[in-house]
Amino acid sequence: MLAARGSDGDAMTDPVIIENSGGVLTLTLNRPDKKNALTAAMYEVLTRALGKAAEDASVGCVLIQGNGDSFSAGNDLAEFAAINTGDGERPTGNSLVSALARNTVPIVAAVQGRAVGVGATMLLHCDLVYVTADARLSVPFVNLALVPEAASSLLLPARIGHARAFAMFVLGEPVDGATAVAWGIANALVAADELRPRARAAAEAVAARPRESVRQTRRLLRNADVLAARIAEENEIFAAQLRSAEAREAFAAFREKRPADFSRLR
Ligand code: COA
Repeated sequence: MLAARGSDGDAMTDPVIIENSGGVLTLTLNRPDKKNALTAAMYEVLTRALGKAAEDASVGCVLIQGNGDSFSAGNDLAEFAAINTGDGERPTGNSLVSALARNTVPIVAAVQGRAVGVGATMLLHCDLVYVTADARLSVPFVNLALVPEAASSLLLPARIGHARAFAMFVLGEPVDGATAVAWGIANALVAADELRPRARAAAEAVAARPRESVRQTRRLLRNADVLAARIAEENEIFAAQLRSAEAREAFAAFREKRPADFSRLR
């Protein structure tokens, strides 16, 4: 198997491991000690990989998975906190989110454990999603004083209905693997040791089919322009909230491992 590096350095310690074989480009999130929380550097690697996949005739499908006990804990909260205090750049996940919305190559995801924030909303841009029983998908943007992103304000209620989406967004209620399947967020519940083989087999099956037919079918199932417009709308509000006093309290609470207290800000 040809292993390409996600960044300079050792492929085993790279935060994203990239492998291209059998028509499948596998992107493995590899920051397990931080539950695969996504840093700016990781977003950049993932965005570039998706862009290259679209132009690479050898790639018929992308497979996203995470090392360790969780798929991804979402955006790195230390980086969000730095933006809040003016020390960080603009939200770095925007490039990945736009790439996901415009992407033409089918994406398969293998999800175990936590999938939080963008770790969950990116699944709405995937075409086949496999989960284990211990999967916990959550989009607790409001707990962080933020708002939905990645067009999830459109995609999630469309998939599961307003009432469930509201509870997930505003109350931060997680959804387990079986429920994710029942609600149509995921395709199938798989045993932990079957997760990667099953996702890989699905990705290979997609890659074996006629490329142009698959890509056009994916394009017809999604509306990239509508998604891009919603993402732009979300990003504007997200960026403002990211710099708010409410968010400052939420990020401090996470850092200090305590519940957030928004009552002083009213
Ligand atoms: N950003 C930065 N670091 C994160 C992180 C994130 N999003 N999520 C987890 N980590 C870090 C923790 O700070 C901890 O680091 P430490 O060992 O140096 O203290 C490590 O990953 C393990 O996390 P921990 O909280 O101890 O694991 P847990 O199993 O008790 O809980 C989560 C896992 C995912 C439920 C919890 O870490 C969490 O809620 N993370 C934040 C998720 C989030 O809000 N993401 C942003 C959405 S927009």
